[in-house]
Amino acid sequence: MEGKMAWRPRPSVDDAVEYLPVESLEAIAERLGVPPEQVAKLDANENPYGPPPSVVAALASLTDLHLYPDPDQRRPRRALAAYTGAAFESILLGNGSDELLDLILLATIEPGDEVIVPVPSFGVYLSRPPLFGARVVTVPRTETFDVDVEAIERALSPRTKLIFLASPNNPTGNLAAAEQVERLLRHGILAVIDEAYFEFAGTTLQSLVERYENVVILRTFSKWAGLAGLRIGYGIFPPPISRALWRVKQPFNVSLAAQVAVEAALADREWLMERVERIRRERDRLYRELQRFPFLQPYPSHANFILCRVHDGLAHRLHAHLLAAAIVVRRYDDAWLRDYLRITVGTPEQSERILEALETFPFRGRESDA
Ligand SMILES: Cc1ncc(COP(=O)(O)O)c(C=O)c1O
Repeated sequence: MEGKMAWRPRPSVDDAVEYLPVESLEAIAERLGVPPEQVAKLDANENPYGPPPSVVAALASLTDLHLYPDPDQRRPRRALAAYTGAAFESILLGNGSDELLDLILLATIEPGDEVIVPVPSFGVYLSRPPLFGARVVTVPRTETFDVDVEAIERALSPRTKLIFLASPNNPTGNLAAAEQVERLLRHGILAVIDEAYFEFAGTTLQSLVERYENVVILRTFSKWAGLAGLRIGYGIFPPPISRALWRVKQPFNVSLAAQVAVEAALADREWLMERVERIRRERDRLYRELQRFPFLQPYPSHANFILCRVHDGLAHRLHAHLLAAAIVVRRYDDAWLRDYLRITVGTPEQSERILEALETFPFRGRESDA
């Protein structure tokens, strides 16, 4: 190539943490050489039932596609205010809750600030802050994956700007205890409570937003509402944080399709919650079934996935064994989760396929036997 390349990425981009990617259904099917409908895609906590027909119909009859969407997101915010009981002014939508995580970092972080992440948790909490100039301080959870409040308190510094707390936590499935969260809030640091799996858990820490100015709640339509493809997240924010986020967000961050889908999905809540209930029942059944395999230790979950500890050194081999049966579950590369797999709870038929594949996993007690 001619000409000298003067462009370089910022050093934080070069240093960016890379994660094992989640592949699209199409890419997986292509790689495995099977039709997409044969793949049990249980690696991204998607909802196998998708959205209700009424949402699909609302999307099919969209008009005004030549106009930009409402930058103030008024209709979906009104619908979300009614759904959550939170004030209209406190609600802001994002292009997935992933975008809201970025906006919070953009509005908060100055180079050299610190972000606390109780690990293991959602990988995005580790990968995004450095891109905004923050240093990530990881604080291991306890053996039962509870937040270790004392350890977090020891990790606080004058540069600590925020702490990410998912409840239920991905991938461990457990809830954050309200007393522990409140104790952390009293230090005055911003806590981002990520309730991506709220509808599966049925419990929320939302009332804290009315009592503390340093807490935000994030939710998504990707999981319970079966709309991961449309990218819809929202947050409930105290007034000063909300004002800052409105200043930093792109005007048209949420598409017309996404805005219409929010209203339609919330209008058809009964349909959706009936599927959420099915997934919860299936989760509890699958959890019991998984317990019978000597090479697996499943953890109880309040979400739509089950984390399993796999007998020493076998997680990646088990992942490959399931993949050979066109079943894709989540595996990990990082030190905290190398011995774990996370299985998204799908349909009863998908559970049966997993259980059948597990029956044929060649395990005789020791890694060298497998
Ligand atoms: C804890 C947590 N937060 C946020 C997200 C991202 O949600 P969204 O699809 O709205 O960006 C996920 C998705 O896996 C998640 O597990």
